[in-house]
Amino acid sequence: MNKHLLSGLAMLLLTVVIISSCKERDYEIIEGRGITGINGMVVSAHPEASRIGTAILLDGGNAFDAAAAVAFALAVSYPAAGNLGGGSLMVIRDAEGNYSSLDCREKAPGLASRDMYLDESGNVIEGMSTGTLAASAVPGSVEGILELHSRFGILPLTKVIQPAINLARKGFSITAKQAESLNHARNRFIQRNDHPVPFVKDETWCEGDTLIQEDLARTLERICDYGRDGFYGGITADLIVAEMKKGNGLISHDDLDNYEAVWREPVIGTYGAYRIISMPPPSSGGIALMQLLGIMEEMLPEEPVFQSPEEVHLITEAERRVYADRSYYLGDPDYINIPVDELVSKEYLQERMSDFNPEKASLSEDISHGAIPAWEGEETTHFSVVDKDRNAIAFTTTLNSGYGNCIVVEGAGFLLNNEMDDFSSKPAYPNIYGLIGGEANSVQAGKRMLSSMTPTIIEKDQKLYMVLGSPGGSTIITSVFQTILNVIEYGMNMQEAVDAARFHHQWMPDLIYFEEKGADTLLIQKLEMMGHKTRLRSSIGRVDAIRILPEGSMEAGADPRGDDTACAF
Ligand code: DON
Repeated sequence: MNKHLLSGLAMLLLTVVIISSCKERDYEIIEGRGITGINGMVVSAHPEASRIGTAILLDGGNAFDAAAAVAFALAVSYPAAGNLGGGSLMVIRDAEGNYSSLDCREKAPGLASRDMYLDESGNVIEGMSTGTLAASAVPGSVEGILELHSRFGILPLTKVIQPAINLARKGFSITAKQAESLNHARNRFIQRNDHPVPFVKDETWCEGDTLIQEDLARTLERICDYGRDGFYGGITADLIVAEMKKGNGLISHDDLDNYEAVWREPVIGTYGAYRIISMPPPSSGGIALMQLLGIMEEMLPEEPVFQSPEEVHLITEAERRVYADRSYYLGDPDYINIPVDELVSKEYLQERMSDFNPEKASLSEDISHGAIPAWEGEETTHFSVVDKDRNAIAFTTTLNSGYGNCIVVEGAGFLLNNEMDDFSSKPAYPNIYGLIGGEANSVQAGKRMLSSMTPTIIEKDQKLYMVLGSPGGSTIITSVFQTILNVIEYGMNMQEAVDAARFHHQWMPDLIYFEEKGADTLLIQKLEMMGHKTRLRSSIGRVDAIRILPEGSMEAGADPRGDDTACAF
């Protein structure tokens, strides 16, 4: 019996499928991993958020109402990454097959400047772009969620926010993983806040403890009552600016007032019979994914073998080159000129892989970005929602690191992002994900920092086929890419594809990372014999995905690396 079949069986046995006994309007709500559903499905990082989104679908809301409700609910139930104080990227496909993408990525404040993280000698000031108020960029998520809802939602805004308000005010039981994560961040919360924050209590956190966030409930109420002005203006804006003034924060009333989410044309490509719709810049995700799939289309063998040394080697060499391009060419399209069509063209990708040696690893120091003539130039969260009409949304949202910079806006109850670290503080200086960048991603007032977030939708025969995305910093692109290959090339179902062990190479550092759990020693040995350097790490990505089966039902892939849960009916 092959290893996928075995893992599939194990998954079936292990998956806890809770069939909720309550029947609502004749629909049975199912909850768990690897589940299937017909009328609607939400897969997110927290069971409370998945339940809230599903309840909105049951109440007659569409996928976009549900996504707005899930995003607000994650800001409460999953404070490590769900947010009001961060940014988000979304890819949307409506039931008629129209696509769009919404960029509500944070922007550098008006007072930000190229060398703001350097000392007088030109050295990067350790921790300034991650652990201080100066790490925070102008938040975009609230504007984006409201924009999504007003353009595509059909329920009133109150309906989609109220569940999050209730959750914040009444509290919810934290999971074992959350208790561990809050205890781990305890000292950072204490050191970086001069006021009590709900994430710290006298004793350590335990599974099942209740987390209540009264200030956050009031901020959500202001958004509910006044829309964007409830966050970017009025009391909330005053509280944000007051917080900035306690230290080296730069966000001003003008920055908040002027923030705008931008509808952008998604990056669209094909892979065999599939059409891939993904996030354009300021994310690198869509372009990198198209490049990786473009290379695979030409170079994977007819009968691919999951994680054979030859294929891991090929994928690694493709990732090495694609991440080198990312570092050089990609940044905010409103500030730089990005040669998108060239980067994803067949000819360019062929040329890029022309020095590929099937038996030997190349060295990252010998690989630079490709030549394009005349060119000038651990914590995020993803959720996927599909409704009964097959409206679909892939939604990735982030504060950057877990709990952002760990600073809670006093009186407003939400955490601030440390997204400024996604800029390149200095050419060739690695950010927290080890990514290096250059001029294209330098800090500039009003600019959006380059992201790896890759919310993606796939069509087959012009019908909705898959919705997916992942957190994981630089490993997001790899996680989305490998999950797609797992289904299309390696014949896995959605949950198996999400469960399968992942590996990652990002050009610099010159290492293939393998997940500790599921690392295949023999495979690693063979790759090392080819000249690859390898390292183990705890986990890579957390993919939450939905696939539409040929007969029309949906199957969930909820990542077991977290508390990720699917809900469907
Ligand atoms: O936008 C980005 O690429 C990063 N700020 C994402 C951060 C992330 O995924 C952290 N998650 N584990």
